[in-house]
Amino acid sequence: MENFTFYNPTKLVFGKGQLNTLPEELESYGKNVLLVYGGGSIKRNGLYNEVMDQLHKAGVTVTELSGVEPNPRLSTVQKGVELCREHSIDFLLAVGGGSVIDCTKAIAAGAKYEGDVWDIVLRKHIATEALPFGTVLTLAATGSEMNSGSVITNWETNEKYGWGSPVTFPKFSILDPVNTFSVPKDHTVYGIVDMMSHVLEQYFHNSTNTPLQDRMCEGVLTTVMETAPKLLEDMESYEHRETILFNGTIALNGMLQMGYRGDWATHGIEHAVSAIYDIPHAGGLAILFPNWMEHVLDTNVDRFKQLAVRVFGVNEKSGSDNEIALEGIRRLREFWSSLGAPSRLADYDIDDKNIEKMAEHVMSRGAVGNFKSLAYDDAVAILRASL
Ligand code: NZQ
Ligand code: ZN
Repeated sequence: MENFTFYNPTKLVFGKGQLNTLPEELESYGKNVLLVYGGGSIKRNGLYNEVMDQLHKAGVTVTELSGVEPNPRLSTVQKGVELCREHSIDFLLAVGGGSVIDCTKAIAAGAKYEGDVWDIVLRKHIATEALPFGTVLTLAATGSEMNSGSVITNWETNEKYGWGSPVTFPKFSILDPVNTFSVPKDHTVYGIVDMMSHVLEQYFHNSTNTPLQDRMCEGVLTTVMETAPKLLEDMESYEHRETILFNGTIALNGMLQMGYRGDWATHGIEHAVSAIYDIPHAGGLAILFPNWMEHVLDTNVDRFKQLAVRVFGVNEKSGSDNEIALEGIRRLREFWSSLGAPSRLADYDIDDKNIEKMAEHVMSRGAVGNFKSLAYDDAVAILRASL
């Protein structure tokens, strides 16, 4: 293990009916609240009204920013920053999935910075303060509800980047599995792929002596894999929604990554793809991850073998280390396909036209990948294998 400091100040409020705690959670903050939400799912499933009831109980003045896009855009963040200034906003409440939460984080930091908020995303300006914000999560996927990361797309330049700061952890996040009942099948599957990918990004590292971290990662992966097919059979099962929701948070709240650095190259490549084609983040991951694995297998075959044996149930005597490792990757692909996730870029009508452009975007902030540092040619090869 490497030396580490673990810091996570987000208060997690989990379970049925927990929205009722919202007025109490808001007590410590000011009275001008910016409510941030997406394209209307919370109006269709009734959550919007429930949140408004609680906000009225709390006696706050509400300004709204609706229409946050999946893969949230810089232009929407800028609109939110303007609203904060115009209405003297002192607290933001994100109600939605990762996109709404990421957008809220950028608005919160942007409102405290006089320059363009894109500087913060590009890390030209390091955010040292932000307006306080909380979240009501509606989709199990990104872990954004309990981390400080945010991913924003500049649609004018086709750039999509992640950034984060110790000041952009949510003050609190309210997670009621019932609020995820209405997530349609495709986004439920994307969420499952995303949380598994987060664990895999972390599992592939170069530190030694991480037995507990390995078992924690394997525990999340096996729990998600046991639960996902059952959830897809019964989309309003409280138990299964609860299990998946909790796994999504644990997968990316920093707990699994103590004492080492995960790889994260596949996320970098996916962000370059969705910056140009606007595809769902985890649709891209389902396609790219197995191809990244095959590309970097030689870096540490033992680690791939351990994953294959412990998570995918491959018999450790069934072949050479390489064969066992490859069988694990094959089973990962098969599992995601069995859920209905895409497996080729062609599934989104993406051909080789922009491969070089995407690879350039991957490399635009320097080499990516901590387990295996990738060069431009590696990014091209992984994208080509994914066509
Ligand atoms: O916009 P609305 O109408 O709310 O609909 C959304 C959206 O169309 C819908 N939805 C959400 N909750 C629902 C629901 N529909 C019915 N019932 C509900 N309860 O689902 C669609 C997708 O929502 P979105 O927020 O885009 O999905 P997700 O949570 O997967 O977030 C994806 C974004 O997060 C970034 C991705 O790159 C992408 O931009 N990521 C953020 C991370 C982080 N902050 O830590 C890490 C991730 O790796 C990821 O990169
Ligand atoms: Zn992700």
